[in-house]
Amino acid sequence: MRAKRKQGSISDNVFQTPRQKVIAMKFIHITDPHIVPTPQTLCALDPRARLATAIADINRHHADAEFAVLTGDLAYLGEPAAYRDLRRLLDKLELPCHLLVGNHDERTNFRNVFPDTPVDENGFVQYVVPTPAGAFVMMDTMEAEASSGIYCENRFAWLEARLAELAGQPVYLFLHHPPFDIGINSLDASRLPDADRLASLIARHGDVRYMFYGHVHRAVWGAWRGTPTSALPGTNHQVGLTLGDTNEMLGSHERPAYGVVLIEDDCVNVHLRDFIDDSPRFPLLDKMSKGAATAADLPRPAPSFAGI
Ligand SMILES: [Fe+2]
Ligand SMILES: [Fe+2]
Repeated sequence: MRAKRKQGSISDNVFQTPRQKVIAMKFIHITDPHIVPTPQTLCALDPRARLATAIADINRHHADAEFAVLTGDLAYLGEPAAYRDLRRLLDKLELPCHLLVGNHDERTNFRNVFPDTPVDENGFVQYVVPTPAGAFVMMDTMEAEASSGIYCENRFAWLEARLAELAGQPVYLFLHHPPFDIGINSLDASRLPDADRLASLIARHGDVRYMFYGHVHRAVWGAWRGTPTSALPGTNHQVGLTLGDTNEMLGSHERPAYGVVLIEDDCVNVHLRDFIDDSPRFPLLDKMSKGAATAADLPRPAPSFAGI
């Protein structure tokens, strides 16, 4: 087993390709594990088992990633026992891990169990992670007792100062609540307000390359005022696709996933990994594959084949 790297360290994963000098980095995006204390379940699923499955899959297939980022709703009700269970699970992850809080979290209980996670001068879980690809800025958008996102004056002041310090560097933003609608009324009601102010800070910096968010429990890709954005399914339950007039929030057992994010100097790609998938893998260009009548007839990939 590989030794866990120090949190926040910058690896030497900077290399040159024949076409041009690039900075390449791979990290894992995980969101909304909603951990409940042992032995509780949530929405007829076991969030601890789900996250454990994701972590085992990451360790097996993506142990070369720089780190993982969890974009909030770490616990469902924010109890100390839930955070202790989360810590026990994350101890198995062979990557450093950067944590954000979401509306389901309880900041004090979180900080008591994860005292190493940095906070800003006002105690908000906000910090900057330097990486080979640029600065990852972790934002705290939670408001106690509210499902809606809040970004208060103190937090805006912190962000404005950090973005000023990071002038000339690529920046990647991470936050739980998106500052825009995604078309699902029940989620749009709890989006982050003050979008104009955030957008103006992003515009003033001039090189914010991507925004990763959580909260919506769905795979959503898009762009907001020119900044590309994405969210992922949660590792436990999902929110159904209710477009239209309804304000009801539909839970679902659609499949969970984490994101495998590849960053180069000129692009960001997010690969969705369904970590409970056990469907067949086969050599796609093999004639036997094309002619297979059933999954049992499919040839197996060569042992040297490295894909998932
Ligand atoms: Fe959530
Ligand atoms: Fe949330």
